[in-house]
Amino acid sequence: MTSVFSNSRVDDDTRRHLLFQGEVFVYSASPASAELVGFARELIAEAFGGRDPETAQFDMAVEEFAALLADLKPRFIHHPRCKELLPRVIEEFGCTLGQTYFDVPRLRTSTSNDYLTSGISYAFHPHRDCWYSAPFNQVNWWIPVYDVVPENVMAFHTGYFDQPVRNGSARYDYGEWNRTSRQTAAQHVRGDTRDQPRPEEPIDLEPQVRVVPEPGGVMIFSGAQLHSTVPNTSGRTRFSIDFRTVDIDDVRSGRGAPNVDAECTGTTLRDFVRCSDLDAMPEELAQRYESAALARV
Ligand SMILES: [Fe+2]
Repeated sequence: MTSVFSNSRVDDDTRRHLLFQGEVFVYSASPASAELVGFARELIAEAFGGRDPETAQFDMAVEEFAALLADLKPRFIHHPRCKELLPRVIEEFGCTLGQTYFDVPRLRTSTSNDYLTSGISYAFHPHRDCWYSAPFNQVNWWIPVYDVVPENVMAFHTGYFDQPVRNGSARYDYGEWNRTSRQTAAQHVRGDTRDQPRPEEPIDLEPQVRVVPEPGGVMIFSGAQLHSTVPNTSGRTRFSIDFRTVDIDDVRSGRGAPNVDAECTGTTLRDFVRCSDLDAMPEELAQRYESAALARV
């Protein structure tokens, strides 16, 4: 069973303990998360000119829309403002900045009516981030930029948190993916041919849980949760921000969610930097994690 905790006051250690058991947390917008969303809206408005970004898809050729996102998304991801704002968001939600590492925030879109579901606006099939070389102690943060509804958010398939799913993660190595497939996302407008880990058996999509936070509200969950992009039938493009954190004590001690079915190799740990000073994740921890992943397969 998964519970959704709303505006919980438990400390971060307790929260991570609960996240690693499959619980989900949701919070109202904080000053910094509202600022992050405000900043995202500025960049989005600039990119879309006078158009309403949530409905512009209906007036634009899909290639033009994909090209706009291919320019907008990296500008957000690598913007220095994000490196200032993210640690503030993370601190406001109770994490210790000297212990917590984060990766770059992504700006995601989910277009309505199957307009663009590949490449730069990929509609994620059910997956665990841990199939993509994410560490088992990874915590995922998800923040809507505008109002969202159940028809354009993401879904958790909570029954699978501790149940294995046959999947393609054994063919995935993060280092290999970085060297080859990642750069080509914007080219996949009509379909995505890149081999990504996906379920290799039928999945019961029900029961599922959809959380609908307010704009700037923050949903926090384990990277081991099986989750997917819901088919967007809302008539509006959904814009959201997500990023990931790890606590270095968890990385050192191996505390995290159980691994029920991931067989990928490599690790994303080198993408994480410390909130307090943007220092890199210690290389020996990344190497230790990689060796453990190799030993599993
Ligand atoms: Fe994911």
